[in-house]
Amino acid sequence: MSFVVTNKKKCCVVGATGMVGQRFLTLLADHPYFEVTCLAASARSAGKTYAEAVGSRWKLTEPMPAKFADMTVLDSAEVDTIASLCDFVFCAVDMPKAEVREMEENFARHELPVVSNNSACRGVEDVPMLMPEINSDHLAVIETQKKRLGTKRGFIAVKPNCSIQSYVPMLTPLLKFGLNKVVATTYQAISGAGKTFNEWPEMIDNVIPFIGGEEQKSEQEPLKIWGKVENGVVVNADAPLITTQCIRVPVTNGHTAAIFMSFENKPSKEEILKAWAEYKGLPQELGLPNAPEQFITYFEEDNRPQCAIDREIYGGMGITAGRLREDTMFDYKFVGLSHNTLRGAAGGSVLNAELLYRLGYLD
Ligand SMILES: NC(=O)c1ccc[n+]([C@@H]2O[C@H](COP(=O)([O-])OP(=O)(O)OC[C@H]3O[C@@H](n4cnc5c(N)ncnc54)[C@H](OP(=O)(O)O)[C@@H]3O)[C@@H](O)[C@H]2O)c1
Repeated sequence: MSFVVTNKKKCCVVGATGMVGQRFLTLLADHPYFEVTCLAASARSAGKTYAEAVGSRWKLTEPMPAKFADMTVLDSAEVDTIASLCDFVFCAVDMPKAEVREMEENFARHELPVVSNNSACRGVEDVPMLMPEINSDHLAVIETQKKRLGTKRGFIAVKPNCSIQSYVPMLTPLLKFGLNKVVATTYQAISGAGKTFNEWPEMIDNVIPFIGGEEQKSEQEPLKIWGKVENGVVVNADAPLITTQCIRVPVTNGHTAAIFMSFENKPSKEEILKAWAEYKGLPQELGLPNAPEQFITYFEEDNRPQCAIDREIYGGMGITAGRLREDTMFDYKFVGLSHNTLRGAAGGSVLNAELLYRLGYLD
């Protein structure tokens, strides 16, 4: 669908110096809807140019976009200044949850929509937690949130944890078959902790069987994604039962998930593959700039999907799956993969912002 942009929205990246912030800047350097007009981080970075503030911490293989190198970084506490410079903010900061929620609500009260990567507000019933192909109807709760915050245009919209992007897309179109049990084991890249091998040499040739808080998020967040909007808030789904183990593996980017699943009405393998092949949502229908043309790509080869080969599919915004087969204890098992700092972090938030823009929430 063709769409003419009449006015680009000005945005600030809060947490611009971090790993997710860096991804935001590479995705936003030449964006058709958005113009980055300010950068913010902690008081440690404030007053420095972006290049000085990042110093040796640039973590991506792509170079820093030249247009940001000389921009002066603001202290994220300077909310009035930030509000005078932009129309909305992207937020990805590493701070205690209570402080993140206070910061995000403060931005919203200054009438700045907040498109967040952080987990602090994910559990709040009037904050939409979006995977835009799946639950764009949850945007309806923004009205309730605005009433709570006393705002006209300020609100918070979040994306879910990076781990669940590797299996929730495949499970969603199967809910109609009475999906009732899911076992998910995730094999998560070190960039999910904001780290490279240089900064985390203990991860070389190693597997760490614990990621703080990750299993709880991986079990609970899908139930909000699959929830219904009732009386202006999201009411979580109460099924399927999900149990997870989340494991850190020596991979730079890409979270893999090994999934077992059972159904009340077991579909055929062909029905599952058809449901995956046909699954799309508003991002595809609206032709959003970061929407993958094909949401779920299934590989027939036994040795796919692989992080190194498949994580960048559709600019790292597509989800890949493979090895769907019957199981001895559950009905089926399969493997999923998503790029954790693109679809799972900055790219997911940019897609959320593109949807919010097209639906008028950033006006
Ligand atoms: N990495 C991923 O794959 C991923 C995926 C999904 C979600 N997330 C979430 O995204 C957020 C950022 O992750 P990250 O990996 O980018 O972390 P990171 O590389 O450690 O970057 C943290 C950012 O937060 C800023 N910051 C720290 N303390 C601050 C304060 N008191 N006030 C304002 N800014 C402050 C830092 O600024 P300074 O440079 O000035 O210290 C930096 O810009 C986290 O909530 C994380 O859970 C990450």
